[in-house]
Amino acid sequence: MSKKTGLGPWHEVRRSDLHGRGVFARRPIPKGTYILEYEGVRITPEEADAQEPTDPNDPYHTFFFAISNGMIIDGGQNGNDSRFINHSCDPNCEGHESDDGDKVFIVAMRDIAQGEELLYDYALTIDDKLTKTLKKQYACWCGAKTCRGTMLALPKLTKQQQEQAKLKKWIKKQIRKEMRKKMRKQIRKELKKSLRNT
Ligand SMILES: C[S@@+](CC[C@H](N)C(=O)[O-])C[C@H]1O[C@@H](n2cnc3c(N)ncnc32)[C@H](O)[C@@H]1O
Ligand SMILES: [Zn+2]
Repeated sequence: MSKKTGLGPWHEVRRSDLHGRGVFARRPIPKGTYILEYEGVRITPEEADAQEPTDPNDPYHTFFFAISNGMIIDGGQNGNDSRFINHSCDPNCEGHESDDGDKVFIVAMRDIAQGEELLYDYALTIDDKLTKTLKKQYACWCGAKTCRGTMLALPKLTKQQQEQAKLKKWIKKQIRKEMRKKMRKQIRKELKKSLRNT
């Protein structure tokens, strides 16, 4: 862990192009490094639901980290710098729980270069139905090629469902292509007509 190296913390907090403040590598971080603990008060999901937004201008802003024992670490209360780590759908860090499941450490998934922003996949779970509106409320701006457009966890699809989704996407694309073709034809026709009439 960082304190034992004598070189100070692995990370620093500064403005992020992604959102607000972010956490960055102060020096190269080798894969597997336990960078820092996700600290905060343990609360129940009911207590989390009852909380007022941390930022009224950004009501879906969250400092919560859900752990497998059903509790939530609220980084907004007694939290440390880890609460400023932003989300990415293609992260370089992940949360590791301690054996007793009470603590979470942010760990490097690969070697991280000095200055790189530290990011983990929030994979937020919400009890409500996963609607387009909900996904928009938790929209992701990570910009990764594999960005799923939301910080929410999406349900894992079976192979068959994946094939169906692919087919649906392909059909939609073909329909759009056909529509564009038809529109172009219609425009050409209208243009010819108006030229004839002039
Ligand atoms: C734990 S805070 C991260 C620190 C945050 N940047 C700040 O300054 O408070 C989590 C919040 O940051 C924002 N955020 C983090 N990653 C994001 C992303 N990839 N896309 C959009 N918003 C993001 C969301 O508002 C999210 O609820
Ligand atoms: Zn994303």
